[in-house]
Amino acid sequence: MSTLTHPEWNEKMGGREVAKAFAEQIHGKNVLITGVSPESIGSSIALSIASQNPALLIFASRTKSKLEEVVKSIQDAYPDVIVKVVLLDLMSQESVKVAAKEVSQMTSRLDLIINNAGIMTTARQTTKEGLEGQFGANHIGHFLLTELLMPQLLASASSSDEGATRVINLTSAGHRLSPVRFSDYNWEKSNDEIPEEERHAQLPPKFAKGADDGYNGWLAYGQAKTANMLFSVGLNEKYRGKGVRSYAVHPGCEYPAAQAF
Ligand SMILES: NC(=O)c1ccc[n+]([C@@H]2O[C@H](COP(=O)([O-])OP(=O)(O)OC[C@H]3O[C@@H](n4cnc5c(N)ncnc54)[C@H](OP(=O)(O)O)[C@@H]3O)[C@@H](O)[C@H]2O)c1
Repeated sequence: MSTLTHPEWNEKMGGREVAKAFAEQIHGKNVLITGVSPESIGSSIALSIASQNPALLIFASRTKSKLEEVVKSIQDAYPDVIVKVVLLDLMSQESVKVAAKEVSQMTSRLDLIINNAGIMTTARQTTKEGLEGQFGANHIGHFLLTELLMPQLLASASSSDEGATRVINLTSAGHRLSPVRFSDYNWEKSNDEIPEEERHAQLPPKFAKGADDGYNGWLAYGQAKTANMLFSVGLNEKYRGKGVRSYAVHPGCEYPAAQAF
């Protein structure tokens, strides 16, 4: 049995048409979106949500000039929408803590957190705390941000309809490339040095080759995107009874890339 609310929609459906169909769930809400730059999924989500009169939009991202550009496009299209920006570098837990504090000073309640920011890199990067960069930014940074803003989510949940307060984690079909290597999340070991249940499957040719230092960025991306999904599972287990729901969503990608997974 299909649980789709709109089975007639397909990949050609635009974000603003979807937002219009769910107008009641956006109107008057306080929404935080991470990873907001021009021509990105984050700015597209922002424009769609702005089209349905939210009470407050907060954009958290790492490049001030890009944030300002998106704010301008929102203000040009929807001048009545209140938009605030916060500088956030998910590669630094200190930055995440500062950003969460700023957000908590902006509002006492959040209805929706959309953890959208993400990196995919084939060369190894490392967070300020020494974590493998894709796991650190795509998952751990968002995990920390969301947990620090849980008081604001719970404040919304306590006075909202069941299921209206949400954390949306942007994952990817790329999660199929690797489970989470709980014993080696920094990718320092080879596939046969880790427990069987943490090993990656046979890789499609496009993803098989790692960098010269042995680091395969696609696998690390896959681990981070699996972690995004498990984060939603964990949030639902821990907070569903308190009214907060989480969904992990793949935003879609061009057909050849989708086929590769
Ligand atoms: N595009 C696809 O085909 C596709 C497919 C599957 C899943 N996804 C997922 O969808 C999400 C959005 O993807 P996208 O295609 O819109 O990516 P994008 O165009 O590269 O945008 C990524 C956003 O994340 C921000 N960001 C990157 N590192 C950050 C950090 N350390 N701290 C704070 N912000 C950071 C970027 O800011 P700057 O621009 O300032 O660097 C940018 O705003 C990601 O989670 C991605 O994994 C995308």
